[in-house]
Amino acid sequence: MPRLMILSASTRPTSPGPSIASWVTGRAVRDGVFTPFTVDLAELALPFLDEPGSPSQDAPVHPHTRAWSATVDSADAFVFVVNEYNHSYTAPLKNAVDFLFHEWRRKPVGFVGYGMSSRGMRAVEAFQPVAAALGMVPAAPVVTVGLRDDLDGAGVFRPGAALDSAADAMLRELGGLERALSGLRASAAA
Ligand SMILES: Cc1cc2nc3c(=O)[nH]c(=O)nc-3n(C[C@H](O)[C@H](O)[C@H](O)COP(=O)(O)O)c2cc1C
Repeated sequence: MPRLMILSASTRPTSPGPSIASWVTGRAVRDGVFTPFTVDLAELALPFLDEPGSPSQDAPVHPHTRAWSATVDSADAFVFVVNEYNHSYTAPLKNAVDFLFHEWRRKPVGFVGYGMSSRGMRAVEAFQPVAAALGMVPAAPVVTVGLRDDLDGAGVFRPGAALDSAADAMLRELGGLERALSGLRASAAA
């Protein structure tokens, strides 16, 4: 089965991001199309980009970049779980993405945004041009989690049926795109 990397973009302790990523992982396991694995940017703890060369032209020199490159390279598709800060996505997400170049290319990406008033949609929409610049192909629909609606009184993420079906629709689309794009990657590599 193709490998799906589910990236929790938050680096903040107490973030609901990892539990949202874990819910997406559960939906992907249930779906049975991908073998999912998660990456938590807080645990990955990349420094600010410190490679001497350009990710599009030069091989990485630092062990943390090589390890990150191998992880992303091993994925056939991505889901980015994106938190919204000040109407956009966050600096750690941009930094993690900027470390690499070829590893993202011709792979589909689904988005789960979360936040308060806009449910993370502004963060996702701000990120989409970056994904396009790297040759990632976005899957519709975008899933959004509203922290006022989808957390219980204790702050625990409680997805309802509507969120489950939105995630399933996004994962179905991601599966279709992955089948199309894996052929394209194989012919580009030949
Ligand atoms: C610095 C900062 C800026 C924020 N800006 C927004 C915002 O513009 N729109 C929004 O809906 N929520 C905003 N929020 C609320 C966050 O979306 C919410 O706290 C969410 O849990 C943040 O993700 P995290 O818990 O993974 O850090 C902001 C929170 C922080 C800490």
